[in-house]
Amino acid sequence: MGLKGRDLLSIRDLSKEDIEEILKAAHRMLPYAEGKKVNHLLDGKILTLAFFEPSTRTRLSFETAMARLGGTSVTIADASVTSVKKGETLHDTVRVISQYGDAIVLRHPNEGAARLAARASAKPVINAGDGTGEHPTQTLIDLAAMQEAFGKIAGLRVTLLGDLKYGRTVHSLARALALFGARLVVSSPPSLRLPVEVREDLDRTGVEIREIPKVEDAIQETDVLYVTRIQRERFGDDAEYAEVAGSYRVDLPLLARAPERLVVLHPLPRIGEIGPAVDDSPHAAYFRQAFLGVPVRMALLALTLAGRAS
Ligand code: NCD
Repeated sequence: MGLKGRDLLSIRDLSKEDIEEILKAAHRMLPYAEGKKVNHLLDGKILTLAFFEPSTRTRLSFETAMARLGGTSVTIADASVTSVKKGETLHDTVRVISQYGDAIVLRHPNEGAARLAARASAKPVINAGDGTGEHPTQTLIDLAAMQEAFGKIAGLRVTLLGDLKYGRTVHSLARALALFGARLVVSSPPSLRLPVEVREDLDRTGVEIREIPKVEDAIQETDVLYVTRIQRERFGDDAEYAEVAGSYRVDLPLLARAPERLVVLHPLPRIGEIGPAVDDSPHAAYFRQAFLGVPVRMALLALTLAGRAS
């Protein structure tokens, strides 16, 4: 049905065909994302970014994407300088700012905030992370990185390592990988396993999914090792965090046992779960993945705001 004017609140809002369309468009956006060609597809359009949680990549790559398409962005990067500080509700903030620009990108600490915002907004809402909920645009980037490395997603053996409970990127990614027919291995500290509702969604698709206590046990059969940080800010208390901090780490001795083709992805930021020595290994793809945020978000914005990407 086309992406023009649609919200993107959960990865489940997109069909496989929608995702394939975005990935194809993202590939075509590469020379524009790299600044080698100039694009005016979104001339005169305004994107409103409302970020109620810290962000580096997501916010700056959305702003860059908009600028590379000739559009403009206006940004709340620090909610404490807005009327939220005076007690304004998310509903009212969104209802007002949705009248200004042509779409809203929202990051918020509460799960479900993007859905609430979409009800208040006259314009499309894109979820850039809602608490421990989802982060669908990160998933599009993750898929683009896999597509770039392997030319396909179906059949890939993907190991998800880390905080699978609170990490919203894996909640979106695991669902998309199931849709594309990848094979999943999950590995996390016992207290940070995938939430039941995500696991149930996966089981319903019939995706092959194996849970292992130690990533070492799956490394030889892994194509994509997707690492996440422990989401410290989601923990109730520091003692709970201390129990799991540093409990897994990807380093060169681990990768020495990996197949040559294995790529390491990470949505970033990392806080020690991938050693810096890995950066120079041919397996490291996470900085390239972060760059892909620009062409992927260009594709999504073009399709959402203009209904076309070329
Ligand atoms: C992620 C997030 O915000 O969920 N960051 C990102 O957008 N690349 C991952 C994280 O914070 O761990």
